[in-house]
Amino acid sequence: MKILAIESSCDETAAAVVEDGRRVLSNVVASQIEIHRRFGGVVPEIASRNHTLAIDNVVAEALEQADAGKDDIDAVAVTYGAGLLGALLVGVNYAKGLAYAWKKPLYAVSHVKGHLAANYIDSTLEPPYLCLLASGGHTALLSVKDYEATELIGQSRDDAAGEAFDKVARVLGLPYPGGPEIQRLAKQGRPVYKMPLPSFKNDTELRFSYSGLKTFVINLVHGMEQRGEEIPRADIACSFQECAVEQLFRAAECAAERTGAEKVAVAGGVSANERLRARFGEWGERTGREIFYPQLKYCTDNAAMIGAAAYYLVRSGAKPAGADLDARATVPL
Ligand code: KG4
Ligand code: ZN
Repeated sequence: MKILAIESSCDETAAAVVEDGRRVLSNVVASQIEIHRRFGGVVPEIASRNHTLAIDNVVAEALEQADAGKDDIDAVAVTYGAGLLGALLVGVNYAKGLAYAWKKPLYAVSHVKGHLAANYIDSTLEPPYLCLLASGGHTALLSVKDYEATELIGQSRDDAAGEAFDKVARVLGLPYPGGPEIQRLAKQGRPVYKMPLPSFKNDTELRFSYSGLKTFVINLVHGMEQRGEEIPRADIACSFQECAVEQLFRAAECAAERTGAEKVAVAGGVSANERLRARFGEWGERTGREIFYPQLKYCTDNAAMIGAAAYYLVRSGAKPAGADLDARATVPL
């Protein structure tokens, strides 16, 4: 089954053709990062307008690279949420129009499920497994019992991990998106600052928290600025990254021990982080757990992951979406 997938939830206009959920025939991403960088973050209205300008070419390019036309495509899939409403609507309406014109079934895919499915691409991962999702919008632990049966076992009580990377980067004068910038700068520093790290040991519900860590860094930097001190940016970036990664790791370790998970997958934009991969990799080797991460190009937003998720949605017997399909700013985890 070949699925044409479309994703426009934030600042990437993306389309892909995916075969049987695991084989990517094309994966086109038109990034708006350069456009939003001067504003220090994504401006929703500008994102929507640029999706409108890009989507036709992005879809055409994805079909061309996959050497596929209307007759080769079995279904159209689109991200309906979570994300920026105006941005999502561009993809949803385009997909609706295309599915109607081509007389193909349309499937509405959750962006969160897409991030999870990024781990199926070119991979042998099958449920059951434990998934740590860490992106700009979500930080959660999910027990994936089957492709369409997940149980939420922990989520953030405040900010998402990626959001903390972005905000700390901003206070350190680094451009958007902050994750890769912090990672780069952290290599020149040492983890000399002790930063707040929640403990999970006695919590029945695993609750991440990134707002305290973010505020700690903001106060640290502002205090130094007020005293006229030079900001040790690399040491702060390194200390923050260690602490942010340690929180993700400890929660996942706690959840794996409680659920007895032998396979652990990490997904979402933050799963691109080298320190996080090293920390989970070392744990996997030590405990014999199998650790999965998406390939780097499938960690951040893309449509291939939406095509992969759509395949398992179709296989579960889900009904295609109707013409009344709407975008949603939030979706259940
Ligand atoms: O999954 P994603 O592309 O979009 C959302 O669904 O939110 O995640 C974007 C987030 C941003 O906050 C970005 O700073 C973070 O992922 N990110 C990283 C890295 N690459 C992207 N965070 C830490 N280290 C990275 N290498
Ligand atoms: Zn995402």
